[in-house]
Amino acid sequence: MIAIGADHAGVRLKSQIAAFLRERGEIVSDLGTHDETSTDYPDYAEKVGREVAAGRAERGILICGTGIGISIAANKIDGIRAALCGDTLSARMSREHNDANILCLGARVLGDGLAMDIVAAWMDASYAGGRHQRRIDKIAALESAPVAR
Ligand code: RB5
Repeated sequence: MIAIGADHAGVRLKSQIAAFLRERGEIVSDLGTHDETSTDYPDYAEKVGREVAAGRAERGILICGTGIGISIAANKIDGIRAALCGDTLSARMSREHNDANILCLGARVLGDGLAMDIVAAWMDASYAGGRHQRRIDKIAALESAPVAR
């Protein structure tokens, strides 16, 4: 299952992506928002992030105007590796090297065609493991590391 969410700025692109994923045979859980009424992107980052972190969704896709706010918010959740991507190489590498479990997109930045290509590249790519696992483990260690102030 793929969980998707967006704020008001990303809601139109979210619908297109949901349809695109369903055409590819994916089961999609659309966690909102559902119209263009102004909303707060952290709310959708939390909904999708918690589904992915808990293992109820294999991966997630989040969209806001730039993709920045929603990626910052999603990355606050333990276990989430959210990658903001504006090109297909970054999308593929975020899976292969970083094992990104959430793709973030900026609806006000990307054309629809590029956005779909990025989604396809991200969905088709797999985590390569190997030497990358040590680095993923170090990211996870940061989640529980105390911050010296
Ligand atoms: C909403 O106006 C906008 O700030 C939001 O969609 C996003 O771009 C934040 O990073």
